[in-house]
Amino acid sequence: MEEGALVTDTTTTSTATAPAAESDWSARAARLATLLAERGDVRDDAWKAAVAGVPRHRLVPAAYRQDTTGAWRPVDTASDAGLELVYSPETLITALEDRGGHQVAVSSSTKPDLMLRMLEVLDVRDGQKVLEIGTGTGYNAALLSHRLGEANVFSVDIDPELVDAARSRLAGIGYRPTLVAVDGVDGLPEHAPYDRIIATCSVPVVPWTWVNQLAPGGQLLVDLKVNDTAGNLVDLRRLPDRAEGRFTARWATFMTMRHHDGAVPIQSGERAMEAFERVTTAPAQPWWTHRVVWLLAQFALPAGVVIGMRLDPDTRQPTAGMLSAPDGSWTTIELAESGGVRRVTEAGPTPLWVAVEDAYQRWTGLGEPDWPRLGITVIPDRQWAWLDDPAGPRTWPISG
Ligand SMILES: C[S@@+](CC[C@H](N)C(=O)[O-])C[C@H]1O[C@@H](n2cnc3c(N)ncnc32)[C@H](O)[C@@H]1O
Repeated sequence: MEEGALVTDTTTTSTATAPAAESDWSARAARLATLLAERGDVRDDAWKAAVAGVPRHRLVPAAYRQDTTGAWRPVDTASDAGLELVYSPETLITALEDRGGHQVAVSSSTKPDLMLRMLEVLDVRDGQKVLEIGTGTGYNAALLSHRLGEANVFSVDIDPELVDAARSRLAGIGYRPTLVAVDGVDGLPEHAPYDRIIATCSVPVVPWTWVNQLAPGGQLLVDLKVNDTAGNLVDLRRLPDRAEGRFTARWATFMTMRHHDGAVPIQSGERAMEAFERVTTAPAQPWWTHRVVWLLAQFALPAGVVIGMRLDPDTRQPTAGMLSAPDGSWTTIELAESGGVRRVTEAGPTPLWVAVEDAYQRWTGLGEPDWPRLGITVIPDRQWAWLDDPAGPRTWPISG
């Protein structure tokens, strides 16, 4: 991959933080732990103690936030306002990469409420060995080390700079889990098997290598996004010949897994094509309002479909959703409704919105299933989604 200018924070660890932060972080961390417990994100006291005991500001000495123009601005996490942010259920963006003149977030400390909900779903028990894919700041590795002891915690990230920074910051707060800079798609075979694997970046298919590195009965929690925003966290259990499990009730999304091989998102064509208009009752933004429909639509849409928005030039508010495909086909759907229907424009050889409408019809016909009724089965050369029963009649291939 042609690497852009990677903007990692280079601030050093504890010595860079103000003395005030050192004196009152534990009260803030304890407040965060109580908040997460009150909200039901944490039920297990051992996890609550981990949130209260890990100084997140030492792992995130600097972060970035987008201003109203979309530009990224540094945040001083040692300031009072910064500390409020650090000890709150907020994602903190910590690394940006320049892609064609645009700054794109490539690493973060995931919002603690989501992190803790995931750790609870993963049902981690004392003495278990855990592999994390996506070290980032090391905050999750610190929580795991607090709970399980550093010897049981393994974490990998594709970016060596991030791994080095996380390693030294974790050591600065007393944790030395095994951190390795590798492409996490291969897991970390030299320390397998693991009782639990947690991926904090999303993947379009579940790598069999991860399943293979799980101990019998082990659990794997991963954000499966078959395309862009289509998918959710899936909680898989290792069975003798497969991994199988259901999507989690709450929707979440992570940064997409990146690789060093130069793979870039497929761009749609720009060819001029005759367009035709009609109306529809399908949801205008399924990727936002009807996420299960959006996943079902992916099983019929061509690979590489990209979502966009048309904005009103004066208000900058979205007026239409847009899909485009690598073969040049595109569709727009007006967000404003008139008489219960919305206007759709389609162009090109592939009628993209038809796949969404069909998915919507199928979804309503199936009783509008929510995420936990859908699951995934992974075998070495194939994986598929299913409704209600892995061996039932409703299945959709994901790969193979
Ligand atoms: C949301 S961040 C991880 C947050 C982290 N767990 C924490 O607690 O701060 C996602 C991370 O996945 C990493 N990542 C992306 N592609 C990867 C890959 N192929 N292998 C390993 N890590 C990857 C990114 O570099 C980034 O640091």
